[in-house]
Amino acid sequence: KHVTWNADAAEKGGYEHFMLKEICEQPGAIKATMTSRILPGQPVKLDDIAFTEKEIKEIEKIYIVACGTAYHAGVVGKYVIEKMARIPVEVDIASEFRYRDPLLNDKTLLIAVSQSGETADTLAAMREAKSKGVKVMAITNVVGSSIAREADNVLYTWAGPEIAVASTKAYTTQLITMYILGLYFAQHRGTMTNEEIEAVKNDMLTLPEKAEKTLGHRETLQKFASNNYMHKNMFFLGRGIDYAVAMEGALKVKEISYIHSEAYAGGELKHGTIALIEEGTVVIALATQSRLYDKMISNIREVTTRGAKVLGLAVEGNNSIEKVAEAALYVPPVQDILIPVLAVIPLQLLAYYTAVQKGCDVDKPRNLAKSVTVE
Ligand code: G6P
Repeated sequence: KHVTWNADAAEKGGYEHFMLKEICEQPGAIKATMTSRILPGQPVKLDDIAFTEKEIKEIEKIYIVACGTAYHAGVVGKYVIEKMARIPVEVDIASEFRYRDPLLNDKTLLIAVSQSGETADTLAAMREAKSKGVKVMAITNVVGSSIAREADNVLYTWAGPEIAVASTKAYTTQLITMYILGLYFAQHRGTMTNEEIEAVKNDMLTLPEKAEKTLGHRETLQKFASNNYMHKNMFFLGRGIDYAVAMEGALKVKEISYIHSEAYAGGELKHGTIALIEEGTVVIALATQSRLYDKMISNIREVTTRGAKVLGLAVEGNNSIEKVAEAALYVPPVQDILIPVLAVIPLQLLAYYTAVQKGCDVDKPRNLAKSVTVE
């Protein structure tokens, strides 16, 4: 008797696409990336990092260079490292950095972020910095990759293999490494008290469970996608670290559903984007940051009065968003700075279900490659 066994389906572990599988694997990936590095009551330990105390204290500037989703993780990293370690951070698109003659010296640290560890522009940016005497650190998901081999120090994300072209679990684990690094530098430079460091660590340890809970929005997002997949445009609004997450949400939608989507900083709305808002325009508004919540509520009002259909994203308990947004989704509470890890999940699911609804090839979107090893 002929036995039908589909290797592809088996690899997907019962999921329809690798992307959905990888979105759902995030709680485990986040946990694995923290393992042995974030432990309650113990200093952040980075066995694989060989910075001397002196080197850490002397860092005057950090450049984070990356492409695509990894670049967006870098944008979050800027907020995180500046806030925790008080070191100025500049985030650069690798292909821009390598050709713009940046200001570098031996007190500069370059952090290259790359899931594959093989992206040509990121590798070239790293080489360019190294040749100028800059210390180079890599954040990558692939052990033994070119970027890992050429960096002075490597901090691995333990996301496991990522197959879908659109990056999901690599991004959330890259965020985790940004928190780990921020705390590590803060610990050595004395920019946070032990209590503050412990509080962040304790909250980080709740992220796997809270990410699992956030995945529970699957059905709501599937419904939202089936009602909105036919739109030509989608806007993502956010302020502060929410803006960084909005950029990643917009990229996900573009990559796999081919809908034109843009991320805008809430405060910039009135400087241009608001001209594009008309009856029925879809706006995803992130309002997860307590300090900026009221400002975002005003931004939501600005777009709804012009006819936008707003899906709001806030932290549990902030239900007042429902008074202004057409629909709202909530993420479990956690320190504001850690929220990106949770907030991105509904955006990934939104992109996923929109693409499925449109009948797109979710795992292999047109014109894109998983790893771009040529210029
Ligand atoms: C390609 C992929 C993106 C990815 C980017 C950077 O464009 O399609 O998903 O974010 O490369 O890849 P890396 O492996 O360097 O993170």
